[in-house]
Amino acid sequence: MSSKQRLEGKVAIVTGGANGIGAEAARLFVENGALVVIADVNDELGLQVASSIGVDKVSYHHCDVRDEKQVEETVAFAIKKYGSLDIMFSNAGIAGSLCNILDYDLNDFDNTIAVNVRGAAACIKHAARVMVERKTRGSIICTASIASLVGGSGAGHGYTASKHGLVGLVRSACGELGAYGIRVNSISPYVMATPLACEALGMEASEVESAGVAGANLQGIVLKPIHVAQTALFLASDESAYISGHNLVVDGGLLAVNSPVSKK
Ligand SMILES: NC(=O)c1ccc[n+]([C@@H]2O[C@H](COP(=O)([O-])OP(=O)(O)OC[C@H]3O[C@@H](n4cnc5c(N)ncnc54)[C@H](O)[C@@H]3O)[C@@H](O)[C@H]2O)c1
Repeated sequence: MSSKQRLEGKVAIVTGGANGIGAEAARLFVENGALVVIADVNDELGLQVASSIGVDKVSYHHCDVRDEKQVEETVAFAIKKYGSLDIMFSNAGIAGSLCNILDYDLNDFDNTIAVNVRGAAACIKHAARVMVERKTRGSIICTASIASLVGGSGAGHGYTASKHGLVGLVRSACGELGAYGIRVNSISPYVMATPLACEALGMEASEVESAGVAGANLQGIVLKPIHVAQTALFLASDESAYISGHNLVVDGGLLAVNSPVSKK
């Protein structure tokens, strides 16, 4: 098997696959031999991404992850179309509003939790149900954030709470699903210039990248969606066969050295 075929014969669902990290992951999974269902609410972009990758290897299916029924239908679609489900990349997410807790609209909190945690719970539940039923030793991966590990002033209370919650969900699901050989992991990236970050921060992509570089630990490289997609590829592949319940931080070592006593 060539290094290009790390997911040969596997079927994946990528939620939030119409843009950013998800679109990169869908492309990379296909390059590595997988058949992919892109699940998103942005039908126009989702169809565009699918046709740019190649309609023989990728399908688009409308799915709002807040609606459990739509998640269940997306899983059924993947099984009907491609005959199995080996990988669930639960990546869809929103930033919600970045404002001070004193002014925070709790409806925004509810919606952010509904997409980022409840949506992921629905993806884990329905992917795991078919994996258990079909005895598929699958891999479930959720996109969290460095906001799963630290808070931040004005950093989005719903977002931070949702990503902390998501990591807890991944850990408890890993404990239950290990008995069936199913792995569940999360990825926690630092900031990168996708529509989610640009809109939330009110910045152009170049400004997000400059701010990211300025705040980063690892110099000489700008974090891009492809770096996260490559991490997802590793967790989706058999190369990570004994890794489960892990929150893989993709931050260039930022949090590892972010100490008030660090010497310049
Ligand atoms: N960009 C960053 O700096 C950053 C950093 C850490 C983590 N993340 C996480 O990465 C994931 C992907 O975000 P991105 O940066 O690629 O953003 P993005 O805006 O490029 O992509 C997000 C995708 O999710 C889709 N989506 C939104 N709500 C949905 C719903 N209810 N159901 C289905 N799809 C929905 C959008 O239509 C979009 O295609 C998110 O979970 C986000 O929290 C992003």
